[in-house]
Amino acid sequence: MTDPTIRLADYTRPAWEVDTVHLTFRLSPDATEVRARIRFKPGRGGDLWLDGQALDLLEAAIDGKPVAPAVGKQGLSVPAADLPKDGFEWTCTTRIDPEGNTSLEGLYLSQGMYCTQCEAEGFRRITYFPDRPDVMAIYTVRIESDLPVLLSNGNRIGSGPGWAEWHDPWPKPAYLFALVAGDLKSVTDSFTTRSGRKVDLAIWVRDGDQDRCAYAMDSLKRSMRWDEEVYGREYDLDLFQIVAVDDFNAGAMENKGLNIFNSKYVLASPETATDGDFEGIESVIAHEYFHNWTGNRITCRDWFQLSLKEGLTVFRDQCFTADMRSAPVKRIQDVQGLRAAQFREDAGPLAHPVRPEEYVEINNFYTATVYEKGAEVIRMLREIVGAEAYETALNLYFERHDGQACTIEDWLQVFEDATGRDLSQFKLWYRQAGTPQLDVEEQFDGTVHRLTFRQNVPATPGQPNKQPMPIPVRWGALDASGHEFANGLHIADAAVTTLDIPCSARPVMSLLRGFSAPVHLKQAEQVGDRAHRLAHDTDPFNRWDAGRALAMEALLDGGDTQDWCDGVGRVLEDEALDPAFRAMVLSVPGEGEIAQATALAGRVVDPDVIHARRKQVRQNLAHHLSDRLAPLRDAQQIDGPYSPDGSAPGKRALANGLLGLIALQSDGLNLAQAAFDRADNMTDSLAALTILTAHGAGKNALAHFHHRWSGVSLVIDKWFGVQARFGSIADIEALLDHTEFTWRTPNRFRALIASFAFGNPTEFHRKDGAGYQLLADWLLRMDALNPMVAARTSTAFDSWRTVTEDRQALIATQLERIASAPTLSKDTSEMIGRLRA
Ligand code: ARG
Ligand code: ZN
Repeated sequence: MTDPTIRLADYTRPAWEVDTVHLTFRLSPDATEVRARIRFKPGRGGDLWLDGQALDLLEAAIDGKPVAPAVGKQGLSVPAADLPKDGFEWTCTTRIDPEGNTSLEGLYLSQGMYCTQCEAEGFRRITYFPDRPDVMAIYTVRIESDLPVLLSNGNRIGSGPGWAEWHDPWPKPAYLFALVAGDLKSVTDSFTTRSGRKVDLAIWVRDGDQDRCAYAMDSLKRSMRWDEEVYGREYDLDLFQIVAVDDFNAGAMENKGLNIFNSKYVLASPETATDGDFEGIESVIAHEYFHNWTGNRITCRDWFQLSLKEGLTVFRDQCFTADMRSAPVKRIQDVQGLRAAQFREDAGPLAHPVRPEEYVEINNFYTATVYEKGAEVIRMLREIVGAEAYETALNLYFERHDGQACTIEDWLQVFEDATGRDLSQFKLWYRQAGTPQLDVEEQFDGTVHRLTFRQNVPATPGQPNKQPMPIPVRWGALDASGHEFANGLHIADAAVTTLDIPCSARPVMSLLRGFSAPVHLKQAEQVGDRAHRLAHDTDPFNRWDAGRALAMEALLDGGDTQDWCDGVGRVLEDEALDPAFRAMVLSVPGEGEIAQATALAGRVVDPDVIHARRKQVRQNLAHHLSDRLAPLRDAQQIDGPYSPDGSAPGKRALANGLLGLIALQSDGLNLAQAAFDRADNMTDSLAALTILTAHGAGKNALAHFHHRWSGVSLVIDKWFGVQARFGSIADIEALLDHTEFTWRTPNRFRALIASFAFGNPTEFHRKDGAGYQLLADWLLRMDALNPMVAARTSTAFDSWRTVTEDRQALIATQLERIASAPTLSKDTSEMIGRLRA
């Protein structure tokens, strides 16, 4: 039996809409009773269809009269003839099994605590309901349980021993429903909105974790302030709560007034969390909070529109972090992430548009394309219309669509109305998959420098032919002394466009500044141009990218690294530059990025060759910088207590980047060991541990680390992760047998299996196929338990057609093996099908 394909083109309005929902939960681990009373009103009309999965229907009635609907595996239906035309009250009782719910969708148990995950389609595992985002209703929820803390969306309207009642005054789709019950402790605070309303804030964690919530709370308050100041959006309830959960499929969830988070994005202390973890918390807290307006108040009409809320909210959280921290460094990090994950996705069998047009399982479309490319599309839109018009359009968006379930068309219409522009060509960014390639040719004729842009959007699955898209190219022209004499914005909106810059000498062109569009830029620069830009570009992003391109050239061709080393050396010693920026310039493209560039150049990817080249290039840099490394590192010493904010993280990043190069020199590992021994924060400790492990010298440090952090699961995840990235298959197998490899916990599974498959290319791509087999074994095992996590992890195979033929054959065998498993979830079977197509 094949699962049906859902198509955007088939969208129809709901037959019945919902006014109000009353739910009563009688919690019990394996037999929770859910009583639902739902007020329906007419929509398009027709039969009543209610989605429902893994539910035991105990009773059902319409306007109090018992009914016997036709019940199937996906839901139930009642014929239109049996329904009062003007609306009716549906009541039913279902029994569900939170303890046996290993998919972590719907209501499940995590370490004795009940929690929910309803996006995208988890609510149908709680009760029968039109589980689609265009059905919005007002919820009242009663929870009955002996557990001390009973939470749901909105405001608490009553409680007593063994029960609590919640009411959410804002209409919401079912995917934003949440319920939490457990023996939890809270950290509380408050926030006064700019109109003077006091909002109570609470973060709920397990006892003992209260002292690791301060950063999350502070991030929340800064997010609330930022959304008021930058977008004019105030919070709209008297209470905002966050709950940290150890078992969670995703990062976090924006349930109205009751966000549920993977504990990884809440809990942090200097001893247990790295600078990167702190930054992750800040951005995920912001992301979920920002959803309150972009996602909750204005939601999606259907799941094809997912990027309407996710692309916009990622864009908003990126801007927030840029404001909190260094904007250029944030931009570099985001582009690095985009290239590593989204460009990779776009180049292979899983490529899909920002707004997909069909899916089998929507969970498979919570992707880098929908999220990160979706954010890039909005960044381009703002670039094209300008910051002021962007603000006007956003205000119109909130004004026009508050309380509605919307589409990408609604979103673009707002920009058209606010600016008078025709955005029909721009819409191609939502419709066409694939990363455009933009080739640039330059010609100087003595008075004019002419640039000719040629764009090509590659064919992707289901989309053989593409149309030209509007590509905003921010540019600057530098003269021989590095002075910038002109700059502007060119929109490359046809197959071929030209840009003329009047000047008296051939300039060095800095193109696609700030990465103004998510494209592959191919600029045939003259010898020395890149080095010139690495030294002088006034756009920090492009300055960094010039260095990266120089390194990539050497990495691809095994060529000379002299220019790159010289340039990096000069940047490193430029005290005027932010240490965080210098750390980025110091870092060499990762093996995955080199593999992508190799494939893009039309060559076969051999992970062993890439590994060796990268090692050689880093060695060259270490050799070139030689005795300058240690003093540079000493210069990054930080006085005073640990802080995850300000300049300290950048200094640590630079110091640890330098330590990585020092480790390549004789005696360097002793310094790394000393750094590990001396480390008083997780950032330095993990950096040193990683370096030691990468050199096969981590045995003692790993043992010490494990002993020190026994029982702190987020840190033990790191311990697994670092070994997964640098260990041999034999090491990984030993870890798989480790008592603490509790693979049912998604974080732990990802720490070992995903870190191995995505972060250890040489072992994963071993020529005997052992890496592929290991992944396939675990995908099958996980699929039976938690399809969403298995399907997500299967994307490790997404670049399989770029590697050497012998490896392709081995992967094909594993994909076939998975495909022919006797039972396979809808999630994983869709993914494997797309991978093999
Ligand atoms: N909406 C959540 C967020 O971006 C993520 C939900 C993930 N759900 C899923 N089915 N993958 O903040
Ligand atoms: Zn989101």
